[in-house]
Amino acid sequence: MLKLPFLPNNDLVVGIDIGSHAVKVCELERHDRGYSIITLGSAILPDGAIEDGALADAGAVAATVSALLKNLKIKKKKVGISISGYSVIVKKISLPVMAEDQLESSVMAEAEQYIPFNIDDAYIDFQEIKAAAAGNDQTDVMLVAAKKAVVDDFMAMLEGIGLVPLIVDIDAFALENAHETIGHDVANIALVDIGASKMSINIISRGISAVAYDISLGSRQLTERIQDLLGMEFDEAEAVKLGKRQVLERHDDIADIYSSVCSQWVLEIKKAIDLYRANHPEQPLRRLSLSGGGAKVVGLIDFLQMETGLEVEVFNPLTLMNFNPKKIDPDYIKVIGQEMAIASGIAIRSSTI
Ligand SMILES: Nc1ncnc2c1ncn2[C@@H]1O[C@H](COP(=O)(O)OP(=O)(O)OP(=O)(O)O)[C@@H](O)[C@H]1O
Ligand SMILES: [Mg+2]
Repeated sequence: MLKLPFLPNNDLVVGIDIGSHAVKVCELERHDRGYSIITLGSAILPDGAIEDGALADAGAVAATVSALLKNLKIKKKKVGISISGYSVIVKKISLPVMAEDQLESSVMAEAEQYIPFNIDDAYIDFQEIKAAAAGNDQTDVMLVAAKKAVVDDFMAMLEGIGLVPLIVDIDAFALENAHETIGHDVANIALVDIGASKMSINIISRGISAVAYDISLGSRQLTERIQDLLGMEFDEAEAVKLGKRQVLERHDDIADIYSSVCSQWVLEIKKAIDLYRANHPEQPLRRLSLSGGGAKVVGLIDFLQMETGLEVEVFNPLTLMNFNPKKIDPDYIKVIGQEMAIASGIAIRSSTI
């Protein structure tokens, strides 16, 4: 087939989403009508290897990432990751309209008050949100700060296994990117990714992130409470949660755990929606898109729909892509898709910056 030199299809990074429960890897290829999946997979991390979004056991994570890439026969070295949790601050700030070269120093001067750690210990990035500036003398800037130590640890770990990390994304933005680029969804929509230890909420209004933060709640809560209730090891309780292990007693107590944990999640999601509605009354929200393994709890979609009044759907970016069914099992695509939302959002980023 003819390959045009100005349309390289080999210029995307391999997306690596290092969650607290599992590493997800996704390699995509771009073509003129969208993306196709070259390869993808996930591997469970040892408990405690990632704590609060930071590397707690770099050796264990390095071994897991490297074994996963080897199993998937990924040769490409250029990778992207994304970070989340306490070490990342995302904040929309309002500044007077000014020339681009002045903006950077103004943002830096403002940034200090929003960052709960020393500004010298942070990588700072920002983006002006033009849409908000129309007919206004104020402009909105999206400020992102990440703890250098946390980012540097990830970079060193990846470099240590021979990779070239080119992109450090933020979970909530990778999710947004996947929606807009793969899902072509730019409506007012709430994106919620529920993982093992945290929930990322990103509410998008007219293509711009309006409310974005992480909350330390996730599916691990269910496992820990089942573990306490039944006096089991963590892995056994995880198997009970996933229906891989039957228990003959305390079914009502287990059901209570699900309803109390899911109520807590829904309450937090509703708080974010209320915050959005208070600040954007003219931009009504109609839909909520769920991703992450934690969102697989049976009944959560209906419960969320009832409580928020929004149309709730599961986001599986993989069903919107081509792949070779001889190489990748279509059933796997269905099962793993919602956990792959963030990895796919990283994997559409270009390696030619
Ligand atoms: N059917 C299910 N019901 C409840 N939880 C589930 C189900 N399937 C998977 N999970 C949970 O989803 C979590 C894994 O999801 P995911 O890969 O999105 O998390 P992660 O990215 O590793 O975590 P985090 O983003 O919080 O750091 C695990 O806690 C797993 O037990
Ligand atoms: Mg995650």
